[in-house]
Order: sequence, then C-alpha cells, then structure tokens
Amino acid sequence: MEWWKKSVVYQVYPRSFNDANGDGIGDIKGITEKLDYLNDLGIDVIWLSPVFESPQDDNGYDISDYRKIWSTFGTNEDMYELIEEAHKRNIKIVMDLVVNHSSDEHFWFKESKKSKENPYRDYYFWRDEKNNWGSYFSGSAWEYDEATEQYYLHLFTKKQPDLNWENPKLRNEIWDMMKFWMEKGVDGWRLDVISSISKFTDFPNYDESMGKYPIGKYHSNGPRLHEYLHEMYTEVLSKYDCMTVGEAPGSTIDNALLFCGKDREELNMIFTFDHMDLDKVPNSDIGKWDVKELDLVDLKDNFKLWQNGLYNKGWNSLYFENHDQPRVISRWGNDKEYRVECAKMFGTILHMMQGTPYIYQGEEIGMINAHYDIEEYDDVEIKNAYKDLVLDRKIMSKEKFMNAVYKIGRDNARTPIQWDSTENAGFTTGKPWLKINPRYDEINVEKALKDENSIFYYYKKLIALRHEDDLITEASFDLIDRENKNIFSYERKIGEKSLIVVANFYEKEIDFTLPNKFDISKYSLILSNYEGFIHNENIISLRPFEAIILKNYK
Ligand code: NOJ
Repeated sequence: MEWWKKSVVYQVYPRSFNDANGDGIGDIKGITEKLDYLNDLGIDVIWLSPVFESPQDDNGYDISDYRKIWSTFGTNEDMYELIEEAHKRNIKIVMDLVVNHSSDEHFWFKESKKSKENPYRDYYFWRDEKNNWGSYFSGSAWEYDEATEQYYLHLFTKKQPDLNWENPKLRNEIWDMMKFWMEKGVDGWRLDVISSISKFTDFPNYDESMGKYPIGKYHSNGPRLHEYLHEMYTEVLSKYDCMTVGEAPGSTIDNALLFCGKDREELNMIFTFDHMDLDKVPNSDIGKWDVKELDLVDLKDNFKLWQNGLYNKGWNSLYFENHDQPRVISRWGNDKEYRVECAKMFGTILHMMQGTPYIYQGEEIGMINAHYDIEEYDDVEIKNAYKDLVLDRKIMSKEKFMNAVYKIGRDNARTPIQWDSTENAGFTTGKPWLKINPRYDEINVEKALKDENSIFYYYKKLIALRHEDDLITEASFDLIDRENKNIFSYERKIGEKSLIVVANFYEKEIDFTLPNKFDISKYSLILSNYEGFIHNENIISLRPFEAIILKNYK
C-alpha cells in the first residue's frame, strides 16, 4: 500500500505555529523546535502552508519568489534544516504549491505589466474588456491597469493575478521550480485551488440573475485542467516518491475521480468542500457569510457519498479544519462545558473513515474560535467582505456579519498556537501578529501533555489505530441508522471483521439501538471519550457527545 494511505498529515500554518526569534510571527526554526512534539503525537507528514517570499497580502498565498523562503520565516538553509530534521524522525514534508496565481510583486507580473509586447505578457490573462466574474475576495475578478489600458484577471485579491497555464513556458517554469524543491527533499505538494488552473479562455459571462459579481461553474474545472495535471505528473511527480493533494472547490465524485482515479496519473487525492458547505445557504447574495444550522443527516449522507464514491477507485482526504475553516467544535459542537468530549467525538468520526486524515494545528488540543472586534482581525477575506457587504453595499448589518465571522471567519483558525499559560501563550516573546485566544490559560499544549485524558492523547491513540489496523485503511463503509437525527454511526467491514463507530453528535443524553444484525456480545470497546460504555444488550446509552469504537476481532 502506498505510504500516504497509511499516513496522518498535520498542517502547520507557519505564521501562527511557533515564533523562535521573538518578532511576533511564527517561523521555520520555530517549527523545527517542535518536531519532537509532533513526533510524539505520531503524525507522519507535515503540510506547510506557504513559506515562500511574499508581500503577504493573503498570508503567503501570494508568492513573489517560489524558490526563496520569506525572510520573516527564515532562510532557505532553515528550510533545508527543517526537512533534514523531520526526515530524521521519519516525518515527511509537503509544501504548498500556489500556482493558480502569483503575487503581483513576482518578477513575471512586474514584467508582464510593462507592455503588451513584453515576453512575460502571456504569463497572465490580459483583456480589453472585462466580464462579470467575481473575485472570491469580493468585487470584480478583473483589475484595470492604466499603463497598457487592459484588465488582468485575479480570482482572489488584485495582488494575486491568475497565471496563464495555456502558456507552455509558464508550465515549464513551474515544473523546474517543483523539481528544485523536490531535489531538496520535499516529499510532496498540497496544490492550492488546483481546480482553477485551466480557464475558459473565451471568458463567458454568467447569467445576470446570478448577481453583480458571480462565482460559479466557470471558476473551476476548465477544459485543459486534466491535461495540465497529467503533464505535471509526467514531467515531475512520476520521478519522485511523493504525495499530492489538490484543493478542488466545486468537485463532485465524478470529477474527483478525474483527479485521483486509479491509473489517471494525476494526483493522489483532493480536498473537497462538499461537507464544509453544508451549513451555508447556497447561491446567497452574501456568499459564504450566509450560515445556517448543520443538518446531521446531510453530513452523514455526504460522508457516505464520498466514502463509497471513491472506494476502490480513488482516495479520500479527511478533514474538518484547516487555515480557511473555523474550529469544528465551535462551529458544530460545544466549545464550553463539553469541549473535550466534543473534540474527541469529531476526531473519532473522522479518523475511523477511509482516507488520509488531516489534523490542523491546535485541533489536537481542542482550540476554539476567537470572537474579536472587526479591527482585530487580519484576514483579507474578512476585511474585504466587511467593506463590501456592510460598509459599501449595506446588505448585511454589522451584527449579522460579525456573527457569521464568529462562526466561519478564517482567522478563527489562525490565532497562534497556545503552548502554555505564560504570556502570549508561549507562542512568542514579542507582540503576536494576531491576538491570542483569551482562553489560552485553560487550553494549551503544556496542560494537554500533563493530562492523560487530554484530547492530545486521544488523537495519539486514533493515529496509532490507523497505523496498526489495516481495516481502517481498507474496509468498506456503511452508515448505521442513517435517518437518526442525533447519532452518527457507521460500520467498517471486511468479511467477518467489523468495526463500529457510534457517536452522539449532541449534548442530550440518548439511547441508541444497534440493529439486531450486530451481536454486541461479540464486540469489544477499543476507544471512547468516556470511561467504558453503557449498554443493555443492543441498547447503548450515550452521554453528551459520547463516541465509542467497537470491534469484533483481535
Ligand atoms: C486557498 C487557500 O487555502 C486560501 O487560504 C487562499 O486564500 C486561496 N486559496 C488563494 O490562494
């Protein structure tokens, strides 16, 4: 079995992980210092959010030099040292490949802007007319440039111009850059918005009924997408023993299989957004900020769809959190009196499925969302949306907007890691770039490591189970009692071997009847977030957010 199928990935958002030099911003040396901590947790791979030279308009997802480490994070030598030290501990390093767009401060764009005849003009999309496409970060996706009297395309901020993959010279530059890092020992890539690299170059307008600046089907899965990815595979990826995960908003099972289907020779897996969008009102004129209650049955159906849809055909990535998503216990659970039980419950649900699980930094200690004043946030998405929706267009009240930010704003996940209960949570000796979550005294790594019942040690067990038990990586998946509105339960099965997860998704104590086809006397408890479990024959009495894992084999 390929190593990445048995692996658990830990995502580091370098800015917020650990600051070794006291400037208030995390850095590469800070990550190297904490490798023993990650090794103790038992993870196999670190995915590093971008660490390259960048003006940081979107915290490094706007790269101005792909071969150089951003000086605030350290030097290239620091990066090589991190790779070496990680490898000594059998931890692999996956970097973030942000090549749908570059920074407007990249040499290519600076040249491209100079004139219509410049050899780099075609590295980007320049047009006389703009269409009605919207940017993910508010407003139009086109910016007018007076020097040459044309517009350029930017699906994200105007400092993130989209690269033109139609141009083979650009593609070759990307292949060379990837090889540069892989020769330094990098073990793979997380490919940022990779579903958008091929454009519909006739730039069709969206239907006017979709609002002023729509985002929709033309923003992803363009006509040459899979041709480009296959070329990347042939030119680069096939030459290394590496792993790849593509961020692919707008994917269905069918197009997921085009990325990661067996024999496709493209990517190993993708991040789908399906389950993360279940608490958003679709096609709302206020975009992602229109948040609704999650329906548990929708979530179960969605996991079933992906677990079964890719079974034996592709491979799933499993996640609830990352640097773009809020903390799951604050979003869908209880981050107060049942914070610990709840964090373990979400971990159980996710980690017993088939796929490669991703733990986002701080998830393993149950970090929670941050409720700040608008001025205290840093995220360009939050700031732009506030200006657009609240101040300019006035289609959301400040209160409604802030409530949405508290639920799903990206800075919820970007607050610095709470290492201990000293000043600044031990993250920095300087002034942190983003305010530390006020509950750091209660929620921190030092505390977690001293408490054998902590979320940290529970995650450690979940990771160890995946390493030890092939059933978790290989078995089929089926929901148990799909219609149940309170319980998330499923079975993983190979032949007679069966593993069952039963999780109370809510606070209310509740009985759950395991269907009669399961002979509970043959099952034993292998992990749960309470002491033991309570049952009378097949009726299991679940406490708030209780999650149990049972199996019928040794
Ligand atoms: C997805 C990244 O995860 C996000 O943080 C970023 O803002 C956009 N892509 C643009 O690169």
